[in-house]
Amino acid sequence: MLSLKFIASCLLLFPKIVQQLAFHFTVGSNIRCLDVRTLLRCVLVNHALNYAKPYDLFLASERWNTLPNTLAKAKKAIEHERGYRPLPNYGKPYLNNGLGHATWIVEAPDRKPSDPIIFYLHGGGFFFPTFDSQVKALTYIYRGLLNDRLSILLVDYSITPEAKYPVALNQTAYIYNQLAVKEGNTNITILGDSAGGNLAIVLMKHIKTPIEAIITTIPPEYKPQAAILVSPATCLVPKLKGSFVTNAKSDILSFNTLVLVAKMYHPDEKLRKTLPLSPLYSEPSDWDGVFPEKLLVIAGEKEVPIDDILAFTRVAKIKESDVSIEPNGWHDEFMFYTHNYHFYAKTWSYHKICEFLRKT
Ligand SMILES: *[C@@H]1O[C@H](CO)[C@@H](O)[C@H](O)[C@H]1NC(C)=O
Ligand SMILES: *[C@@H]1O[C@H](CO)[C@@H](O)[C@H](O)[C@H]1NC(C)=O
Repeated sequence: MLSLKFIASCLLLFPKIVQQLAFHFTVGSNIRCLDVRTLLRCVLVNHALNYAKPYDLFLASERWNTLPNTLAKAKKAIEHERGYRPLPNYGKPYLNNGLGHATWIVEAPDRKPSDPIIFYLHGGGFFFPTFDSQVKALTYIYRGLLNDRLSILLVDYSITPEAKYPVALNQTAYIYNQLAVKEGNTNITILGDSAGGNLAIVLMKHIKTPIEAIITTIPPEYKPQAAILVSPATCLVPKLKGSFVTNAKSDILSFNTLVLVAKMYHPDEKLRKTLPLSPLYSEPSDWDGVFPEKLLVIAGEKEVPIDDILAFTRVAKIKESDVSIEPNGWHDEFMFYTHNYHFYAKTWSYHKICEFLRKT
Protein backbone atom coordinates (compact mmCIF):
# COMPACT_ATOMS: atom_id res chain seq x y z
CA MET A 1 0.00 0.00 0.00
CA LEU A 2 1.19 3.49 -0.75
CA SER A 3 2.07 5.40 2.34
CA LEU A 4 0.73 8.88 2.88
CA LYS A 5 4.31 10.16 2.92
CA PHE A 6 4.93 8.74 -0.53
CA ILE A 7 1.82 10.37 -1.98
CA ALA A 8 2.71 13.66 -0.32
CA SER A 9 6.22 13.62 -1.79
CA CYS A 10 4.81 12.82 -5.24
CA LEU A 11 2.55 15.84 -4.97
CA LEU A 12 5.53 17.95 -3.95
CA LEU A 13 7.32 16.77 -7.03
CA PHE A 14 4.52 17.96 -9.27
CA PRO A 15 5.16 21.74 -8.96
CA LYS A 16 8.82 21.01 -9.64
CA ILE A 17 7.96 19.26 -12.87
CA VAL A 18 5.70 22.12 -13.85
CA GLN A 19 8.47 24.59 -13.05
CA GLN A 20 10.95 22.61 -15.03
CA LEU A 21 8.67 22.43 -18.04
CA ALA A 22 8.00 26.12 -17.77
CA PHE A 23 11.72 26.74 -17.64
CA HIS A 24 12.38 24.58 -20.70
CA PHE A 25 9.58 26.29 -22.52
CA THR A 26 11.15 29.62 -21.70
CA VAL A 27 14.59 28.70 -22.88
CA GLY A 28 12.91 27.90 -26.18
CA SER A 29 15.96 27.08 -28.20
CA ASN A 30 17.14 24.26 -25.98
CA ILE A 31 17.37 21.26 -28.26
CA ARG A 32 17.16 18.79 -25.37
CA CYS A 33 13.64 19.80 -24.52
CA LEU A 34 12.44 19.55 -28.08
CA ASP A 35 10.52 16.37 -27.40
CA VAL A 36 8.68 17.80 -24.45
CA ARG A 37 7.94 20.94 -26.36
CA THR A 38 6.81 19.04 -29.42
CA LEU A 39 4.62 16.82 -27.34
CA LEU A 40 2.96 19.60 -25.40
CA ARG A 41 2.54 21.81 -28.40
CA CYS A 42 0.97 19.03 -30.43
CA VAL A 43 -1.36 17.82 -27.74
CA LEU A 44 -2.49 21.13 -26.35
CA VAL A 45 -2.45 23.87 -28.86
CA ASN A 46 -1.73 22.71 -32.35
CA HIS A 47 -4.37 20.01 -32.30
CA ALA A 48 -6.98 22.32 -30.87
CA LEU A 49 -6.23 24.90 -33.52
CA ASN A 50 -5.71 22.50 -36.37
CA TYR A 51 -9.19 21.06 -36.13
CA ALA A 52 -10.86 24.39 -35.51
CA LYS A 53 -13.79 25.33 -37.70
CA PRO A 54 -14.60 29.02 -38.13
CA TYR A 55 -17.29 28.63 -35.51
CA ASP A 56 -14.84 27.14 -32.98
CA LEU A 57 -12.63 30.20 -33.12
CA PHE A 58 -15.51 32.24 -31.75
CA LEU A 59 -15.64 29.93 -28.73
CA ALA A 60 -12.25 31.16 -27.55
CA SER A 61 -12.99 33.48 -24.66
CA GLU A 62 -10.07 35.69 -25.75
CA ARG A 63 -12.12 36.72 -28.77
CA TRP A 64 -14.53 38.64 -26.52
CA ASN A 65 -12.07 40.47 -24.29
CA THR A 66 -12.41 44.22 -24.21
CA LEU A 67 -9.25 46.30 -24.06
CA PRO A 68 -10.01 47.79 -20.60
CA ASN A 69 -10.43 44.25 -19.22
CA THR A 70 -7.28 43.03 -20.92
CA LEU A 71 -5.30 46.00 -19.58
CA ALA A 72 -6.67 45.44 -16.08
CA LYS A 73 -5.78 41.74 -16.22
CA ALA A 74 -2.23 42.40 -17.40
CA LYS A 75 -1.70 45.11 -14.77
CA LYS A 76 -2.97 42.90 -11.99
CA ALA A 77 -0.53 40.18 -13.00
CA ILE A 78 2.56 42.37 -13.25
CA GLU A 79 2.22 44.89 -10.47
CA HIS A 80 2.94 42.36 -7.73
CA GLU A 81 6.10 41.11 -9.35
CA ARG A 82 9.36 41.85 -7.67
CA GLY A 83 11.13 44.74 -9.39
CA TYR A 84 7.91 46.00 -11.00
CA ARG A 85 8.55 49.25 -12.80
CA PRO A 86 5.64 51.72 -12.71
CA LEU A 87 4.05 52.55 -16.06
CA PRO A 88 3.16 56.24 -16.33
CA ASN A 89 -0.23 56.81 -17.99
CA TYR A 90 -0.97 53.10 -18.37
CA GLY A 91 -4.27 52.71 -20.22
CA LYS A 92 -4.63 56.40 -21.06
CA PRO A 93 -6.61 56.79 -24.30
CA TYR A 94 -4.71 58.46 -27.11
CA LEU A 95 -7.48 58.53 -29.70
CA ASN A 96 -10.99 57.19 -29.53
CA ASN A 97 -13.18 58.63 -32.20
CA GLY A 98 -14.76 56.18 -34.60
CA LEU A 99 -11.91 56.57 -37.09
CA GLY A 100 -9.45 54.78 -34.86
CA HIS A 101 -8.67 53.69 -31.32
CA ALA A 102 -5.28 53.76 -29.66
CA THR A 103 -4.22 53.58 -26.03
CA TRP A 104 -0.96 54.23 -24.21
CA ILE A 105 0.60 51.25 -22.49
CA VAL A 106 3.04 53.79 -21.15
CA GLU A 107 3.43 57.45 -21.97
CA ALA A 108 6.46 59.33 -20.71
CA PRO A 109 5.52 62.33 -18.57
CA ASP A 110 6.04 65.61 -20.52
CA ARG A 111 6.66 63.64 -23.67
CA LYS A 112 8.57 65.56 -26.37
CA PRO A 113 8.33 64.99 -30.14
CA SER A 114 11.87 63.56 -30.25
CA ASP A 115 11.16 61.03 -27.50
CA PRO A 116 10.98 57.42 -28.68
CA ILE A 117 7.56 55.88 -29.25
CA ILE A 118 6.81 52.25 -30.01
CA PHE A 119 3.80 52.08 -32.31
CA TYR A 120 2.49 48.60 -31.57
CA LEU A 121 0.31 46.56 -33.95
CA HIS A 122 -0.82 43.38 -32.26
CA GLY A 123 -1.12 39.93 -33.78
CA GLY A 124 -4.03 37.51 -33.50
CA GLY A 125 -4.95 36.68 -37.07
CA PHE A 126 -6.80 40.01 -37.51
CA PHE A 127 -9.48 38.11 -35.56
CA PHE A 128 -8.45 38.32 -31.92
CA PRO A 129 -8.26 41.56 -29.99
CA THR A 130 -5.08 42.33 -28.02
CA PHE A 131 -4.06 39.48 -25.70
CA ASP A 132 -3.01 40.29 -22.15
CA SER A 133 0.21 38.39 -22.85
CA GLN A 134 1.04 40.94 -25.56
CA VAL A 135 0.47 43.79 -23.13
CA LYS A 136 2.65 42.00 -20.59
CA ALA A 137 5.38 41.45 -23.20
CA LEU A 138 5.42 45.18 -23.95
CA THR A 139 5.64 46.11 -20.28
CA TYR A 140 8.50 43.64 -19.79
CA ILE A 141 10.37 45.19 -22.69
CA TYR A 142 9.74 48.62 -21.15
CA ARG A 143 11.00 47.34 -17.83
CA GLY A 144 14.12 45.86 -19.39
CA LEU A 145 15.03 48.97 -21.36
CA LEU A 146 15.10 51.37 -18.41
CA ASN A 147 14.44 54.33 -20.67
CA ASP A 148 12.23 56.89 -18.93
CA ARG A 149 11.61 58.71 -22.19
CA LEU A 150 10.09 55.69 -23.94
CA SER A 151 6.35 55.56 -24.67
CA ILE A 152 4.37 52.64 -26.09
CA LEU A 153 1.17 53.13 -28.05
CA LEU A 154 -1.16 50.21 -28.68
CA VAL A 155 -3.32 50.42 -31.80
CA ASP A 156 -6.69 48.83 -31.06
CA TYR A 157 -7.82 48.26 -34.64
CA SER A 158 -11.18 46.69 -35.51
CA ILE A 159 -11.08 42.94 -35.95
CA THR A 160 -12.56 40.43 -38.38
CA PRO A 161 -14.95 39.10 -39.50
CA GLU A 162 -16.97 42.26 -38.79
CA ALA A 163 -14.19 44.54 -40.03
CA LYS A 164 -12.60 43.12 -43.18
CA TYR A 165 -9.67 44.46 -45.17
CA PRO A 166 -8.97 47.42 -45.40
CA VAL A 167 -10.63 48.68 -42.21
CA ALA A 168 -7.77 47.84 -39.82
CA LEU A 169 -5.21 49.34 -42.22
CA ASN A 170 -7.28 52.43 -42.70
CA GLN A 171 -7.50 52.95 -38.94
CA THR A 172 -3.80 52.22 -38.50
CA ALA A 173 -2.86 54.80 -41.14
CA TYR A 174 -5.18 57.33 -39.53
CA ILE A 175 -3.57 56.90 -36.12
CA TYR A 176 -0.03 56.90 -37.50
CA ASN A 177 -0.83 60.10 -39.39
CA GLN A 178 -2.12 61.71 -36.22
CA LEU A 179 1.00 60.75 -34.29
CA ALA A 180 3.69 61.42 -36.91
CA VAL A 181 2.29 64.10 -39.22
CA LYS A 182 -0.24 66.06 -37.16
CA GLU A 183 1.66 65.93 -33.86
CA GLY A 184 5.14 65.81 -35.36
CA ASN A 185 6.56 62.94 -33.34
CA THR A 186 9.82 62.01 -35.04
CA ASN A 187 11.13 59.01 -33.17
CA ILE A 188 8.68 56.22 -33.96
CA THR A 189 9.50 52.52 -34.04
CA ILE A 190 6.78 50.32 -35.53
CA LEU A 191 6.45 46.95 -33.84
CA GLY A 192 4.10 44.31 -35.22
CA ASP A 193 3.74 40.60 -34.54
CA SER A 194 2.07 38.10 -36.89
CA ALA A 195 -1.03 39.80 -38.34
CA GLY A 196 0.28 43.02 -36.79
CA GLY A 197 3.50 42.46 -38.72
CA ASN A 198 1.43 42.31 -41.90
CA LEU A 199 -0.24 45.62 -41.02
CA ALA A 200 3.18 47.12 -40.23
CA ILE A 201 4.65 46.09 -43.58
CA VAL A 202 1.66 47.34 -45.54
CA LEU A 203 1.56 50.61 -43.61
CA MET A 204 5.21 51.28 -44.47
CA LYS A 205 4.56 50.39 -48.11
CA HIS A 206 1.59 52.77 -48.07
CA ILE A 207 3.73 55.59 -46.66
CA LYS A 208 6.18 55.15 -49.56
CA THR A 209 3.57 54.70 -52.32
CA PRO A 210 -0.06 55.25 -51.30
CA ILE A 211 -2.30 52.19 -51.50
CA GLU A 212 -5.62 53.16 -52.99
CA ALA A 213 -7.80 51.32 -50.47
CA ILE A 214 -6.26 53.22 -47.55
CA ILE A 215 -7.85 56.64 -47.17
CA THR A 216 -5.26 58.55 -45.13
CA THR A 217 -2.10 59.25 -47.09
CA ILE A 218 1.14 59.91 -45.25
CA PRO A 219 4.08 61.75 -46.89
CA PRO A 220 7.17 59.49 -47.21
CA GLU A 221 9.32 61.77 -45.05
CA TYR A 222 7.20 60.65 -42.09
CA LYS A 223 8.23 57.04 -42.32
CA PRO A 224 9.22 55.45 -39.00
CA GLN A 225 12.76 55.61 -37.59
CA ALA A 226 12.83 51.86 -37.11
CA ALA A 227 10.68 48.77 -37.48
CA ILE A 228 10.46 45.38 -35.79
CA LEU A 229 8.53 42.59 -37.49
CA VAL A 230 7.92 39.47 -35.44
CA SER A 231 6.78 36.44 -37.47
CA PRO A 232 4.99 38.75 -39.90
CA ALA A 233 2.09 37.30 -41.88
CA THR A 234 3.35 37.79 -45.41
CA CYS A 235 1.09 35.44 -47.36
CA LEU A 236 -2.66 35.03 -46.88
CA VAL A 237 -2.98 32.38 -49.59
CA PRO A 238 -0.64 29.75 -48.13
CA LYS A 239 0.05 26.45 -49.86
CA LEU A 240 0.21 23.19 -47.95
CA LYS A 241 3.86 22.42 -48.68
CA GLY A 242 7.36 23.17 -47.40
CA SER A 243 7.45 24.42 -43.82
CA PHE A 244 3.66 24.21 -43.56
CA VAL A 245 4.14 20.44 -43.69
CA THR A 246 7.52 19.96 -42.03
CA ASN A 247 6.77 22.23 -39.07
CA ALA A 248 3.14 21.21 -38.59
CA LYS A 249 3.92 19.21 -35.47
CA SER A 250 6.22 21.74 -33.86
CA ASP A 251 4.32 24.99 -34.22
CA ILE A 252 1.39 26.49 -32.38
CA LEU A 253 0.02 27.88 -35.62
CA SER A 254 -1.44 25.52 -38.19
CA PHE A 255 -2.14 25.73 -41.88
CA ASN A 256 -5.88 25.40 -41.32
CA THR A 257 -6.02 28.20 -38.80
CA LEU A 258 -4.09 30.50 -41.07
CA VAL A 259 -6.47 29.76 -43.95
CA LEU A 260 -9.50 30.37 -41.71
CA VAL A 261 -8.35 33.75 -40.49
CA ALA A 262 -7.10 34.79 -43.93
CA LYS A 263 -10.54 34.18 -45.41
CA MET A 264 -12.10 36.26 -42.69
CA TYR A 265 -9.70 39.12 -43.46
CA HIS A 266 -11.07 39.01 -46.98
CA PRO A 267 -13.00 36.21 -48.68
CA ASP A 268 -11.81 37.09 -52.20
CA GLU A 269 -8.84 34.86 -52.95
CA LYS A 270 -7.81 36.94 -55.94
CA LEU A 271 -7.63 40.03 -53.77
CA ARG A 272 -5.68 38.11 -51.13
CA LYS A 273 -3.06 37.44 -53.80
CA THR A 274 -2.21 41.14 -53.98
CA LEU A 275 0.41 43.06 -52.04
CA PRO A 276 -1.78 44.97 -49.56
CA LEU A 277 -3.00 41.62 -48.20
CA SER A 278 -0.09 39.31 -49.01
CA PRO A 279 3.15 41.33 -49.21
CA LEU A 280 4.85 38.23 -50.62
CA TYR A 281 2.96 38.85 -53.88
CA SER A 282 5.27 41.62 -55.02
CA GLU A 283 8.38 42.51 -56.99
CA PRO A 284 11.70 43.60 -55.49
CA SER A 285 11.12 47.08 -56.95
CA ASP A 286 7.98 47.43 -54.80
CA TRP A 287 10.21 47.68 -51.74
CA ASP A 288 12.71 50.37 -52.72
CA GLY A 289 12.99 52.77 -49.79
CA VAL A 290 10.01 51.28 -47.95
CA PHE A 291 11.75 50.11 -44.80
CA PRO A 292 13.74 52.28 -42.42
CA GLU A 293 17.49 51.77 -42.12
CA LYS A 294 16.96 50.22 -38.73
CA LEU A 295 15.02 47.04 -39.26
CA LEU A 296 14.68 43.81 -37.33
CA VAL A 297 12.79 40.73 -38.51
CA ILE A 298 12.35 37.94 -35.96
CA ALA A 299 10.98 34.52 -36.85
CA GLY A 300 11.04 30.96 -35.55
CA GLU A 301 12.95 28.22 -37.26
CA LYS A 302 10.12 25.77 -36.56
CA GLU A 303 7.11 27.91 -37.38
CA VAL A 304 4.82 26.87 -40.21
CA PRO A 305 5.05 30.10 -42.23
CA ILE A 306 8.86 30.37 -41.99
CA ASP A 307 9.34 29.61 -45.70
CA ASP A 308 6.97 32.44 -46.64
CA ILE A 309 8.61 34.84 -44.20
CA LEU A 310 12.07 34.10 -45.60
CA ALA A 311 10.80 34.28 -49.18
CA PHE A 312 9.39 37.70 -48.32
CA THR A 313 12.68 38.93 -46.85
CA ARG A 314 14.33 37.95 -50.14
CA VAL A 315 11.79 39.61 -52.41
CA ALA A 316 11.82 42.72 -50.22
CA LYS A 317 15.64 42.76 -50.29
CA ILE A 318 15.90 42.78 -46.51
CA LYS A 319 19.52 42.31 -45.42
CA GLU A 320 20.31 38.93 -43.88
CA SER A 321 21.88 40.73 -40.94
CA ASP A 322 18.47 42.26 -40.17
CA VAL A 323 16.83 38.84 -39.91
CA SER A 324 17.04 36.88 -36.67
CA ILE A 325 15.84 33.28 -36.73
CA GLU A 326 15.28 31.63 -33.39
CA PRO A 327 16.59 28.06 -33.37
CA ASN A 328 13.62 25.75 -32.71
CA GLY A 329 11.42 28.80 -32.24
CA TRP A 330 7.77 28.75 -33.10
CA HIS A 331 5.33 31.32 -34.42
CA ASP A 332 5.17 34.73 -32.70
CA GLU A 333 7.10 33.76 -29.60
CA PHE A 334 6.96 37.44 -28.70
CA MET A 335 3.56 36.85 -27.11
CA PHE A 336 4.32 33.63 -25.23
CA TYR A 337 6.26 32.79 -22.07
CA THR A 338 5.00 35.89 -20.30
CA HIS A 339 4.31 34.15 -16.97
CA ASN A 340 6.56 36.73 -15.36
CA TYR A 341 9.38 39.11 -16.17
CA HIS A 342 12.16 36.68 -15.35
CA PHE A 343 10.80 34.03 -17.68
CA TYR A 344 10.13 36.49 -20.43
CA ALA A 345 13.58 38.04 -20.11
CA LYS A 346 15.03 34.69 -21.21
CA THR A 347 13.20 34.62 -24.52
CA TRP A 348 14.78 35.22 -27.88
CA SER A 349 12.27 37.92 -28.81
CA TYR A 350 12.80 39.89 -25.61
CA HIS A 351 16.54 39.68 -25.98
CA LYS A 352 16.61 40.68 -29.64
CA ILE A 353 14.03 43.43 -29.32
CA CYS A 354 15.74 45.05 -26.31
CA GLU A 355 19.16 44.80 -27.94
CA PHE A 356 17.76 46.43 -31.09
CA LEU A 357 15.91 49.20 -29.24
CA ARG A 358 18.98 50.08 -27.19
CA LYS A 359 20.77 50.81 -30.45
CA THR A 360 17.97 52.91 -31.99
C1 LIG B 1 15.13 58.46 -30.35
O1 LIG B 1 15.14 57.95 -29.03
C2 LIG B 1 16.33 57.28 -28.66
C3 LIG B 1 16.14 56.62 -27.33
O2 LIG B 1 15.78 57.53 -26.31
C4 LIG B 1 17.48 58.28 -28.68
O3 LIG B 1 18.68 57.63 -28.33
C5 LIG B 1 17.58 58.85 -30.08
O4 LIG B 1 18.58 59.85 -30.12
C6 LIG B 1 16.27 59.44 -30.55
N1 LIG B 1 16.37 59.74 -31.97
C7 LIG B 1 15.97 60.91 -32.50
C8 LIG B 1 16.12 61.01 -33.99
O5 LIG B 1 15.51 61.82 -31.84
C1 LIG C 1 -11.20 54.99 -43.59
O1 LIG C 1 -10.86 56.08 -42.75
C2 LIG C 1 -11.49 57.28 -43.07
C3 LIG C 1 -10.93 58.37 -42.18
O2 LIG C 1 -9.56 58.23 -41.93
C4 LIG C 1 -13.00 57.13 -42.93
O3 LIG C 1 -13.62 58.33 -43.32
C5 LIG C 1 -13.48 55.96 -43.79
O4 LIG C 1 -14.84 55.70 -43.55
C6 LIG C 1 -12.69 54.70 -43.51
N1 LIG C 1 -13.04 53.67 -44.48
C7 LIG C 1 -12.96 52.35 -44.23
C8 LIG C 1 -13.33 51.42 -45.33
O5 LIG C 1 -12.60 51.92 -43.16
